[in-house]
Amino acid sequence: MPANGSANIGVVGLAVMGSNLARNLASREGNSVAVFNRTPGRTRTLTSEHPEADFVASEGYDEFVASLAKPRTAIIMVQAGKGTDAVISELVSRFEPGDIIVDGGNANFHDTIRRETEIKPTGIHFVGMGVSGGEEGALNGPSIMPGGTAEAYETLGPILRTIAAVAPDGEPCVTHVGTDGAGHFVKMVHNGIEYADMQLIAEAYDLIRQGTGKSPAEIADVFAEWNTGELESYLIEITAEVLRQTDAATGEPLVDVILDEAGAKGTGAWTVQNALDLGVPTSGIAEAVFARSLSSKRAQRDAASDLPGPSSEWKVAEADADAFIEDVRRALYASKIIAYSQGFDEIVAGAEQFGWDIRKGDIAKIWRAGCIIRARFLNRIAEAYADDPSLVALVVAPYFRDAVAGAQESWRRVIAIAAQAGIPTPAFSSSLAYYDGLRAKRLPAALIQGQRDFFGAHTYKRVDKPGVFHTLWSGDHSEIETAPSSH
Ligand code: 6PG
Repeated sequence: MPANGSANIGVVGLAVMGSNLARNLASREGNSVAVFNRTPGRTRTLTSEHPEADFVASEGYDEFVASLAKPRTAIIMVQAGKGTDAVISELVSRFEPGDIIVDGGNANFHDTIRRETEIKPTGIHFVGMGVSGGEEGALNGPSIMPGGTAEAYETLGPILRTIAAVAPDGEPCVTHVGTDGAGHFVKMVHNGIEYADMQLIAEAYDLIRQGTGKSPAEIADVFAEWNTGELESYLIEITAEVLRQTDAATGEPLVDVILDEAGAKGTGAWTVQNALDLGVPTSGIAEAVFARSLSSKRAQRDAASDLPGPSSEWKVAEADADAFIEDVRRALYASKIIAYSQGFDEIVAGAEQFGWDIRKGDIAKIWRAGCIIRARFLNRIAEAYADDPSLVALVVAPYFRDAVAGAQESWRRVIAIAAQAGIPTPAFSSSLAYYDGLRAKRLPAALIQGQRDFFGAHTYKRVDKPGVFHTLWSGDHSEIETAPSSH
């Protein structure tokens, strides 16, 4: 029987993420951790395997709630969706005003906003909290993105700071992101960027493999080398490890025996759906999501596999291989800058739409360690926002402008080669198209406005005078000044 009110924090849901987070909490000075799982067997296994954690274990909600010190704070670590709602309602019926319920799953931020609105009248705080870093991160230090009220963060913040990953400058990777769904929104965008980063790395691998004929193990060396420079990141590091792995059963490179159909649990798609709603062109992330979808369309891929490609086989001459690989590295870096720039644009638009005061530099800082997209260049993003908090786009900040300027010739060469060779590079190509679109002095959008006015009298504005105009296309083609079209 747990001691009443002795635990300063509780965890509900003891699958791997929940167990690891509970163990992480228990390993920090000053924490006493209450644990509860719907199936008691799991709680018993955890407590018997980890006596050092000194968990305060319960086998029912009444007991669990009684074991928490006030204000009671419980982190829910169950699969996002209906399960979360069920746990929330059990806790809400037992908690008191001032207590804190934290959802640490990968919830859709719209659900988080809804839940917060429903719970608010009870006086109980509801915090949607993004947690990144996978199982290992949960145990040793994740990057944590909590939303909810500032008041709840006063209690929660000091606890989270003890368990978060620590950035190279000693700062814990956690900050109060903003109110209600802000934490889960930022975690969603984190995952969208993760999708783009992974797709870009995969395209770089494919280009090198098809272009130079190097083996996966040789390409692993290339990635390991890249990981010592400006591309240094967790995803580049693990890519080298994955490419180096040999399949025990066949002796082949593991990457060659893994089915080439990528799965997805939905956070990447949410990032793109919300970007569409917000009107933010996150094209690199969208292409990454679509590339996974395409990979899984087996029947269509089989049916299309004998469609014609380029007439001649393409290979990089041996003497040019190093230069080609360097071009790919630069193209990857430039495309990656675009993906992050687009992701931060979505954060800015979301903050504006939902009324969150999100400090972009702080988000870059808490992504420097613990999370899946941790990377050396997040320091540069944090610096860019520190130098200019109202920066309109990351890619125009001096450091990134120079980085892209230095990479763009390589970027163009790589994409031209990919098109000629018939190698799909949707994320590389769309990132360059975005860059060229952004920097264009004049876009063919003017023609689109003309077309819209032609078939729907949608009106247009002129470059040389204010006002809204319509051409009488089916009349004498004269122009009239008019009120803006509402359709
Ligand atoms: C993290 C990861 C984690 C996870 C997602 C995305 O930040 O720790 O993003 O949340 O890997 O589930 O996975 P999918 O690729 O399956 O959508």
